[in-house]
Amino acid sequence: MATKKTSSSHPAADAPKDPTKRDFLAMASGAVAVAGAAGAAWPLLDSLRPAADVLALSTTEVDLSKIPVGQSLTVMWRGKPVFVKHRTEEEIAAAKDVNISQLPDPETDDVRVKKPEWLVTVGVCTHLGCVPTGQGMTDNKGEFNGWFCPCHGSAYDTSGRIRKGPAPKNLVVPPYAFLNDTTIKIG
Ligand code: FES
Repeated sequence: MATKKTSSSHPAADAPKDPTKRDFLAMASGAVAVAGAAGAAWPLLDSLRPAADVLALSTTEVDLSKIPVGQSLTVMWRGKPVFVKHRTEEEIAAAKDVNISQLPDPETDDVRVKKPEWLVTVGVCTHLGCVPTGQGMTDNKGEFNGWFCPCHGSAYDTSGRIRKGPAPKNLVVPPYAFLNDTTIKIG
């Protein structure tokens, strides 16, 4: 689950309060200074390496076996919701049965999925960034049975394409790969 982070604009409020962290920062600064004096690049580069928890957040693995046909899961990836939808045969057929020349952002369904039954999109409306409804079984899915953004009335279809309303672009398909038949890695 995502955790909410708050921050203060006051620099002092962001300073580590844990004395061991302060000591670590002081040591790290010292290490950089020594590295500079000695002309050795390794300690500096090592101190710039992302922490393990930061690397972990840059990708998200999803167990698809937990998502029944017709249902959708929301996972977090780089601070954004990602919709992972297990589409029904009807939803796949509806996504394919579209004259794309009439779409605001023309894309075939084929280029938006790696396997027809799985649609993976960033769950952020491309108008002004609201999170559309449609993930829950009883949610309003809008006129095209995909997702609906209640902020200003954008309607997306079962391929996550914008069909009506002010949003200019389709829901974004993030980079992802199948690790096996039932697992994807986003990012
Ligand atoms: S933010 Fe979605 S329609 Fe405006």
